[in-house]
Amino acid sequence: MTTRLDFRRLNKILSMLITQIEQSDFSTADVSKEWHYMHIMSCSQLIKPEAGERGLSMELAAITAALHDYGLLLTGKKENHAKTGAALIGGFIDSYNTIFGGKRGIITSEERATITYAVLHHSEKEINSGEPYTELLKDVDSLDRYLHGILTEGAYLKRAANILHTSQGKRNTV
Ligand SMILES: [Fe+2]
Repeated sequence: MTTRLDFRRLNKILSMLITQIEQSDFSTADVSKEWHYMHIMSCSQLIKPEAGERGLSMELAAITAALHDYGLLLTGKKENHAKTGAALIGGFIDSYNTIFGGKRGIITSEERATITYAVLHHSEKEINSGEPYTELLKDVDSLDRYLHGILTEGAYLKRAANILHTSQGKRNTV
């Protein structure tokens, strides 16, 4: 276990998202400003230990978690937000790379592909894509809503249990 984890890219991305939330109008949006803050922050923290458990990069997993509802944030619409997010996320990553990449490290094209794929498919909770970051994101997205007290059933509940039961060796598959 290292004494200090490197989340410089993630933390800047979170701060960019906070600024974007602050500047957005939520008067006609499907979800509230407060939900975006809560969900972005808790998903991107919750995903880290589970990423480590699954042998994945904590930082890359946390970046996918931070960005997964970007389509919902930008359009205010739940419908097709995964598709919209995947289409818009490249612009966000370009901005990050241009403004902060030199100092904090860029998001590489390989990482961009992983993030975009996870954002595009994160709503498909009943399907197993076989892509580890995407499946981890779906599990954490489900767990986070469950832990915020939102009614959670079906594939969402199964996925939340997938993480909650890990320490007891009761990992489920969807
Ligand atoms: Fe989400």
